[in-house]
Amino acid sequence: MKGEIGLIGKEIISLKTATSTNDYAAELSRQRDDTDGLVVLADSQSRGKGRLGRAWISPPGVNLYFTVILKPPFPPSEASLLTLAAAVATITAVRENTGLNAEVKWPNDILIDGRKAGGILLEMKTERNRIKILTVGIGLNVNMSLHEFPEDLRSSATSLKLIRGEDVDRMGLLGTILGELEKTYKIILSGNKRALINKWIRLNCTLGHEITVRNRDRVISGIAEDVNEMGGLIIRTPGGNIETLNAGEVTIVKNKPLNPFICSY
Ligand code: BTN
Repeated sequence: MKGEIGLIGKEIISLKTATSTNDYAAELSRQRDDTDGLVVLADSQSRGKGRLGRAWISPPGVNLYFTVILKPPFPPSEASLLTLAAAVATITAVRENTGLNAEVKWPNDILIDGRKAGGILLEMKTERNRIKILTVGIGLNVNMSLHEFPEDLRSSATSLKLIRGEDVDRMGLLGTILGELEKTYKIILSGNKRALINKWIRLNCTLGHEITVRNRDRVISGIAEDVNEMGGLIIRTPGGNIETLNAGEVTIVKNKPLNPFICSY
C-alpha cells in the first residue's frame, strides 16, 4: 500500500462486512487499550451511518468505508479539527491519485462537480473534559455505478469512477489517504492549527459564497467568511451580524460566487 504509514494505519483490521466501521471501532476500543491509530476497514456495511442520523449506502466491492481510531491529547472542543484534517487528507489523496478536482463543502462533504462523493463522520467519547476516543469514519464512493445509487440520490451523489470514466485503485487510494491523514494530524499535534485551516481553505468551496445553514431548528443565511480555530464556520448575516456555527447542513446559493474561490459550480 502506497503512503507514509506511521501511527495511522499501524494496524488495519480488514472486514468483509461490518454493521458500521465506526461502531466496530468504538466496540474494539472498549476491549483494547492499544487502538490509537488503528484503522477498521470494511468491504461493505449493513448499517452504514451518515451525519444527522442518515444512512450511508455501503454496497460491497466498490467503495471505501473505514474508521481511524484516535486518542488525541487535546480537549473535546477541538475535536472538529479532525473533521477538517480528514477532509484535507481525503481530498489531497483523491486529487493526487485520480487528478479529479475534489473539494470540501463545510464541514465534511467531499464534492466533485458539485455532487457528493464522500463524507466524514466523527464520533467521540469523552471523560472529564478529555477525549477518550475519537472515531473518524470516512466513506468514499470510489467505483460505484449509477444503478447502485438509490434513485433519489442519483442527481446529488457521484463516485470517482462515474466522473473519471475508469476504475480507481481502492487500496492505493486508502494508502494515500492514511499517509495524508498522518501529516495533517501531526500539524494539529504541533499546535499549528492555522496551517491546517489554511490547507482546508485552499480546498474548500464554501467560503466567499452566499449560503444557508440549517442547524437543528435554526436556519441562518449569509456569507461564509472564515473557519475559526475550532473548525467552526463564521457567517456574516445580511444585517451585518457575525454568527459562528459548529455544526449544520450548508446549502450554497448557486451562481453567486462572491470571490473566485475554487468552486466548480
Ligand atoms: C456523511 O453523512 O457525510 C458522513 C458519512 C460517513 C460514512 C462513513 S463510511 C465509514 C464510517 N462508518 C460509518 O458507519 N459511517 C462512516
